[in-house]
Amino acid sequence: MPVLSVRDLVMHYKTKMGYVKAVDGISFDLNAGESLGIVGESGCGKTSVSMTILRLLPDNAEFRGGHVYFNDGSGEVDLVTLPEDEMRKYRWKGISMIFQAAMNSLNPVYRVGDQIVEAILNHYPDTTIDEARKKVAELFELVGLDPKRMDQYPHQYSGGMKQRAVIALALSCDPKVIIADEPTTALDVIVQDKILKEMKKIQKKLNMAMIYISHDIAVIAEVSDKIAVMYAGKFVELADSITIFKRPRHPYTFGLMSSFPSITGEKKKLFTIPGEPPNLLNPPKGCRFAPRCFNATEKCRREDPPFLEIEPDHYLACWNPVKREGEEK
Ligand SMILES: Nc1ncnc2c1ncn2[C@@H]1O[C@H](COP(=O)(O)OP(=O)(O)OP(=O)(O)O)[C@@H](O)[C@H]1O
Ligand SMILES: [Mg+2]
Repeated sequence: MPVLSVRDLVMHYKTKMGYVKAVDGISFDLNAGESLGIVGESGCGKTSVSMTILRLLPDNAEFRGGHVYFNDGSGEVDLVTLPEDEMRKYRWKGISMIFQAAMNSLNPVYRVGDQIVEAILNHYPDTTIDEARKKVAELFELVGLDPKRMDQYPHQYSGGMKQRAVIALALSCDPKVIIADEPTTALDVIVQDKILKEMKKIQKKLNMAMIYISHDIAVIAEVSDKIAVMYAGKFVELADSITIFKRPRHPYTFGLMSSFPSITGEKKKLFTIPGEPPNLLNPPKGCRFAPRCFNATEKCRREDPPFLEIEPDHYLACWNPVKREGEEK
């Protein structure tokens, strides 16, 4: 049973120029212990999707509809219907988040350990300080930090250590779902790879569900059981990682995969997707990817393709998908 079921989520930003259609009909299921990678170019709405799920939206955001069903085993709730004080109980404890550029989200004037202790005490008021400190020490071990560092300040940490501390903070209230929004992009590739591998291990060990967001397909490949490919406010393809890598059907997915160097070192010409993602104030009519698509037809420019299950657990929004080997049409 899914721990999170998102259905037809729509959120637009109001601006002087009009509405930015950042989240435009997103649906997916996430099971306990499963990791979903969301990949897409900058500005396609990845962060907006997570902020809409958590209801952490700026003043100019307009929630337009949809459902976010959360079920931790004790019954299903639609988070979009909850009053704010009820919603707060689900944030961090039900679904927690590692924000984009999270390294800078530690408070510089408090000891790192104390910040995590405070988060635990806020959500579990019956916990004693000693119990909370013990838990923080365990979390430090889990994320690869020396517990002796609990009493240091953020400026005494390296970038990689800060990122590990932020991960410990996100895990501190035993969330069922963790949303990690580009948590390692600010780090050098070696540290990034180490942290990614550890996050994957922790997620499996704690049987937590994870949504991992990145524009980098290589990073997504490393951590995701399934992958959602996002383009201009919509998911265009969603399937298990192997399917997405081995036999992508959406020309955009195909483009992203082909621009990714082969891990086996096999030499191939890297393909780049021509053009730029559209302005979401005024996205193109029909399929939003059509202007950049090598497979676009008249119909694509006219009609928006629905997001449909084309085979079990494989969803696609495309009128003219990339052919499979041996397929006629
Ligand atoms: N508060 C806001 N007001 C108006 N437009 C916004 C606001 N926040 C984001 N946007 C726009 O919404 C769209 C989606 O932005 P979002 O940050 O969700 O993209 P993203 O996929 O996370 O990009 P990145 O990979 O760069 O982090 C972009 O066009 C962005 O400019
Ligand atoms: Mg983002």
